[in-house]
Amino acid sequence: MTASIRILTEPPQTIAAMTGETILTNALQAGVSFPHNCQSGNCGACKCELIEGEVLELPYSEYALSAEERARNLILACRTQVWGDCTVRLLDAEEVVLHPSRVMRCRLMEMLDATYDIKALTLAVEAGGPYAFSAGQHARLKFAPGIPERNYSMANHPADDALEFHVRAVPRGQASGYVFTSLHVGAEVKVSGPLGNAYLRENHKGPILAVAGGSGMAPIKSICATALRANPERRIHLYFGVRDEHDVYLEDYLHELARQHPNFSFEIALSQPLQKTARRHGLIRDAIAADFTSFDGFKAYLAGPPPMVESVQHLLLDKGMPLRDIHADAFYSQAEDAFNVS
Ligand code: FES
Repeated sequence: MTASIRILTEPPQTIAAMTGETILTNALQAGVSFPHNCQSGNCGACKCELIEGEVLELPYSEYALSAEERARNLILACRTQVWGDCTVRLLDAEEVVLHPSRVMRCRLMEMLDATYDIKALTLAVEAGGPYAFSAGQHARLKFAPGIPERNYSMANHPADDALEFHVRAVPRGQASGYVFTSLHVGAEVKVSGPLGNAYLRENHKGPILAVAGGSGMAPIKSICATALRANPERRIHLYFGVRDEHDVYLEDYLHELARQHPNFSFEIALSQPLQKTARRHGLIRDAIAADFTSFDGFKAYLAGPPPMVESVQHLLLDKGMPLRDIHADAFYSQAEDAFNVS
């Protein structure tokens, strides 16, 4: 059985839809660049407004769509089945960036130990490019046949030739396990993307609050570097939450960025230091709460384990930051190993 979905964007599009399939599945199959990320009702990236229509909603995380948002007719396209003609409106349509979707053959040029459990990979694109993305987006990486694809954020500036990814070892994780035990320089890696909506909004000229937990530093590094290259005077406050001293990485890079840009500052907080430390001790959320009374004019970019992302998001909402100014990328694939830096 078929129905139609009218998608109010610029220009509006009407697509034929299979009933029983979700709005997102139908839209992607029709070639519509519909914002999405987790495709499982957890991230909120596919949020849109239901104008009218016959649909059935499947269970989803309240983090992805609050009761208050649902009351305003917002829905998650990845968790909403189509059962008759319907009309939806994309949010922030003027902000939707459209980069061509690519499947690229890349070659591993370098693999460094960023920490004891994070490897920094540098990949050269050999075929399938050119690759355009917005700072903060991610790609799907496939390291070898039989190893599942996983999402990793680009850590480099979008204009760089080489791609940089930070791979954290996830207990019993097949992809990260392969990277840590079998991947070698010179290996071929398939990279598909870009994906994700927690990207740098280039039209916003105000201050930025950037918050990273663990390997969430990858997209945050890209966002900070891109924002500063576009406007070296841009005020950026970066907060980096990790568990212990041995989880800190890129500190020299951050010091250099701060030396070059007095308007860039960063704070590192250890949530569970095993030894006495001169660093800030506590949850990154509490460090931000202690340092700021207002976020007027700010946009926030959050990346890392879901508990951290959620708690910082709640803090910012409590402090009056509108949801539209908070761009979050929670690493659900690593949720089972989410460490407590919230
Ligand atoms: S893509 Fe729908 S909630 Fe993540």
